[in-house]
Amino acid sequence: TYIVNDNCIAFKHTDCVTVCPVDSFYEGESMLVNHPDECIDCGVCEPECPVDAIRPDSDPEAKDWVGFNRKYAKLWPIVIEQKPPLPGPDEMDGAVGKLETHFS
Ligand code: F3S
Repeated sequence: TYIVNDNCIAFKHTDCVTVCPVDSFYEGESMLVNHPDECIDCGVCEPECPVDAIRPDSDPEAKDWVGFNRKYAKLWPIVIEQKPPLPGPDEMDGAVGKLETHFS
């Protein structure tokens, strides 16, 4: 499965939802998640994200995010169309501690 990590926060580019064949992305105020049980592992979303926020769960750093993605996919509304991105400043790309300071 593929997951969204906290580098999505402040951006929400939503390029990922335009290519997902099973519409498994869900939208929170500050980031998206991908439902791990609906994702069919096709991998087309991973290269689409301009800030590399999508990873396969085989990535050691992604493992911790599977539960997070599953939890919020059940709480947030589905998103199936591209939307204008959040105006996250460039320095937010790769910033440390985004989840703690900017998650809502
Ligand atoms: Fe987020 Fe990247 Fe999708 S910024 S909304 S995971 S394209």
